[in-house]
Amino acid sequence: MKKSLLNLILAITLIMGMAAVLWAAVPPPSANQYLGYYDTKYSAYTKTECLGCHVSDDVLVPRHHNLIITKNMMCLDCHVLISDGSGGFVFEDFRTCSNCHKTTPHHVSSKAVAQDCQGCHGDFIDNPLDNHYVPTYPVSSVTPMIHGREVTATDGSLATVQGCAACHQPDATAVDPITNTTRAIYSNADTHHGTLIGFTGGIGKCTWCHNFDQPGLAIRQCEACHGVKSLHNVQRPSSTADIVPGSEAAGYGHIGNNWDCAGCHVSWYGNASTSPATAIIPAIKGQSAYTLAAGKEIALTITGVSFVNVGGNGVTYNPSVSISNATTSITLTPASFTDSEIQVLVPALQAGSYDLRVTKEGVKSNLAKLVVIPELAVKTAILSSKNTVTVVGTGFGAAPPADYTSGLGVSVGEVQCKILSWSDTKVVASNAAVQVGAMVTVKALNGSVSKPISAAAAKTR
Ligand code: HEC
Ligand code: HEC
Ligand code: HEC
Ligand code: HEC
Ligand code: HEC
Ligand code: HEC
Ligand code: HEC
Ligand code: HEC
Repeated sequence: MKKSLLNLILAITLIMGMAAVLWAAVPPPSANQYLGYYDTKYSAYTKTECLGCHVSDDVLVPRHHNLIITKNMMCLDCHVLISDGSGGFVFEDFRTCSNCHKTTPHHVSSKAVAQDCQGCHGDFIDNPLDNHYVPTYPVSSVTPMIHGREVTATDGSLATVQGCAACHQPDATAVDPITNTTRAIYSNADTHHGTLIGFTGGIGKCTWCHNFDQPGLAIRQCEACHGVKSLHNVQRPSSTADIVPGSEAAGYGHIGNNWDCAGCHVSWYGNASTSPATAIIPAIKGQSAYTLAAGKEIALTITGVSFVNVGGNGVTYNPSVSISNATTSITLTPASFTDSEIQVLVPALQAGSYDLRVTKEGVKSNLAKLVVIPELAVKTAILSSKNTVTVVGTGFGAAPPADYTSGLGVSVGEVQCKILSWSDTKVVASNAAVQVGAMVTVKALNGSVSKPISAAAAKTR
């Protein structure tokens, strides 16, 4: 078993006679899991965990059904009817993500093919093709290694130092800090190879990450994504105050404490406050709403970490909120913010799917989503003729297919009505149960809505 780097550095710290250090509750190894994605691989995700980012069936049903419009998909492309064994048909399970999304869909996406890894991972990394700075001077005694090297700690045990595995080690019994449940952390080889990049079924090449020809320069190939800029801007505050590089407790990131610098560079004893830190990359962890009604201004709360920080240059970096899609791009100034929470007023938006990010000067967070759906509402539900109700409102969407009986459509209590006509704003349906005072429910692709049926206004016949 690998012994903690902490022991070694603690010893060094004591020898150096540094001021008392506030030890983090969880100093690495293994590294905590607040920032970025959980260090695991696709095959270790369950449906519940997919929903951790994709929110809920309430969001996914309209998102999948939006593809009917945007990608011209048919109901039966996704809802496959299979034999029930006795001459009839049943739907194949359409609730288990992995039935349809069998391997990581994220790493065959068009963004991944274009090596736009930041497109989802945000500025925790650099993009391979963005021409960022990678040193070309010869490697030296303080150059980090891709894994690290083993040294004997002062208590005689072995510790890994001077590389990513000094802190980012696998841990089968790790606790997810967000859900408070046990969830294994995988090794750096497992997390990266889990993307299948370079492997059968995946995109790309091994050489996106490896320089097998010149092992001494291996770290420089890692720097294709983990460049000097991104690596020295990964940090979480160790207290409720804003991040100050060099003045944080050890173990909360890459630049908070001399201990952190030493983890990668081991014998580098310079003054951490001269580090190149500017805006620390913010991370979005949650939203008060994931779907919004179209055409309405709404107050949104975004939770996360590192929303505000003081750079190595003494400048305070405050957050903005950006909302965009192919046709719209707006940047909002929050009404209020702390390091972990932003309150922002989102203006009225048109229906569609939007990217949501928190940005600070020059850096952007991981990608989150806002889906704006036409407001589903009933204005009137009127008994237009005997046993026929005319429902007028908004957001009813496309007509459900006539031969489809489970779920969508119009009902009175438990009774399904016959649809006479259906448009986005008006639905006419009939059934013997349709009468004044009964509750009529319209179940549309975007959700369901109900209203009691009222009598038609008196009119001349
Ligand atoms: C750590 C967060 C996270 C988790 C967990 C996650 N996803 Fe995603 N997923 C994203 C992000 C971010 C995107 C890209 C933005 C978007 O379109 O929502 C995405 C996109 C997708 C896409 C569209 C890919 C494309 O071509 O653009 C599919 C399909 C998908 N996810 C399925 C799943 C499934 C299935 C699981 C569970 C096995 C899952 N996701 C787990 C964050 C996550
Ligand atoms: C792109 C694939 C896709 C297409 C196309 C699609 N669906 Fe779905 N549908 C799904 C998925 C996936 C779910 C379940 C999502 C979940 O559980 O989160 C679902 C759920 C449903 C449900 C259950 C509703 C609910 O609220 O849970 C109904 C009913 C339904 N679809 C009907 C239809 C009809 C009718 C069509 C054609 C007009 C259609 N779907 C087209 C993928 C699709
Ligand atoms: C019945 C098959 C099926 C199931 C089950 C299913 N999906 Fe999908 N999903 C699809 C198809 C098909 C697409 C469209 C893929 C494409 O366009 O390349 C899609 C697209 C998506 C997208 C991208 C939607 C967009 O707006 O572009 C996300 C996100 C997603 N699925 C997540 C999930 C998650 C999470 C689950 C599990 C809760 C799930 N899916 C279950 C078939 C399914
Ligand atoms: C469409 C969004 C998306 C894009 C683009 C994307 N990723 Fe990911 N990545 C994810 C999601 C979501 C997960 C977690 C679920 C999974 O493995 O699919 C993940 C997981 C990972 C992991 C393991 C998790 C961890 O914390 O170690 C690595 C490594 C990774 N991605 C590398 C890459 C690389 C390299 C690229 C660019 C070539 C890239 N990703 C592009 C969404 C994306
Ligand atoms: C001194 C300990 C230490 C060392 C050594 C270290 N890291 Fe980290 N790293 C951390 C901590 C702590 C975090 C923040 C964990 C959290 O709270 O989410 C982190 C987070 C990250 C993140 C963002 C979140 C994530 O999990 O993806 C990346 C990317 C990262 N490290 C890459 C690297 C790379 C590449 C190396 C080697 C060149 C490395 N780290 C070496 C301590 C370390
Ligand atoms: C997305 C980046 C990425 C890609 C692509 C990738 N690797 Fe790796 N690989 C890593 C990381 C990170 C490690 C862990 C380094 C360490 O700690 O020693 C690793 C470790 C290794 C190791 C050391 C042994 C081990 O498993 O720990 C070998 C050998 C290896 N990779 C071969 C390959 C081959 C062959 C391919 C292509 C089929 C490939 N890698 C593709 C990132 C990648
Ligand atoms: C093509 C881009 C790319 C390359 C090259 C790359 N990585 Fe990563 N690495 C990622 C992404 C993406 C993440 C996940 C960031 C997140 O959590 O959102 C990551 C995360 C990490 C982390 C943090 C722990 C974790 O799994 O999240 C470590 C450590 C790491 N990489 C080490 C390496 C090493 C060592 C190499 C070189 C052998 C390497 N990486 C090469 C894209 C890359
Ligand atoms: C996560 C690992 C990691 C941590 C932690 C880390 N560094 Fe680095 N640092 C690197 C890598 C990788 C390079 C590039 C080395 C190379 O390619 O020669 C680098 C380069 C540097 C450079 C040279 C920059 C240039 O312009 O060429 C300085 C100076 C430096 N680091 C200082 C620090 C200080 C100070 C700290 C602590 C506040 C720190 N580093 C923490 C990984 C790290």
